Amino acid sequence: MKKDIVVYYSRKGSNKFLAEKISKSLKCDIECIKPRLNIFIFFLMKINFGIRNLKHNLKEYDRVILCGPVWMGKLVVPLRSFINKYSDSIDKLVFVTCCGSSDEKKDEKFGHGIVFKEVESILKYKCILCQAFPIIMVLPDDKKEDSDAFMKTHLNDENFTGEIADRFASFIQNLSVIK
Ligand SMILES: Cc1cc2nc3c(=O)[nH]c(=O)nc-3n(C[C@H](O)[C@H](O)[C@H](O)COP(=O)(O)O)c2cc1C
Repeated sequence: MKKDIVVYYSRKGSNKFLAEKISKSLKCDIECIKPRLNIFIFFLMKINFGIRNLKHNLKEYDRVILCGPVWMGKLVVPLRSFINKYSDSIDKLVFVTCCGSSDEKKDEKFGHGIVFKEVESILKYKCILCQAFPIIMVLPDDKKEDSDAFMKTHLNDENFTGEIADRFASFIQNLSVIK
């Protein structure tokens, strides 16, 4: 029987938290993307040494749920390497991000909407859904414009409540509908 797998890259833990939550909710496999050289500055400079082979065979899965951050308004190097390496093995892909940009700013230069368009343009019909969980959703109202606060905040069990938890529940529900 074919099924889902969550594949993720995370530097500071928010996308790892999200990926693990998705995998638990869907009761599906999960695997972390491991860059050959995990050096952040190289990623920002788009110097790419590729990623290690995954342990799971993606051809055995219906859907890959790819989860990772947005940096500088771009698809981050480890996620790009993953897509380039495995696009032929992917049947359907759902892209999920915990990012810094809000829904309101998603189509601006550093917005996650730009990255969604990039993923859709690479994978075309294989990309069936993109979903953002902006980190500002877990910040109090008086900190939502505070860039320092959002850079220091990471998803965890304590702050994953209210609006973001509701969005997550709808997202999981949506995944079962579009299956
Ligand atoms: C160098 C850097 C650049 C970033 N650029 C963006 C950006 O352009 N757009 C955005 O939405 N978030 C941006 N972010 C915020 C990250 O997407 C956000 O912190 C994410 O939750 C980190 O995920 P992680 O905890 O899984 O590593 C940036 C973060 C860093 C460190």
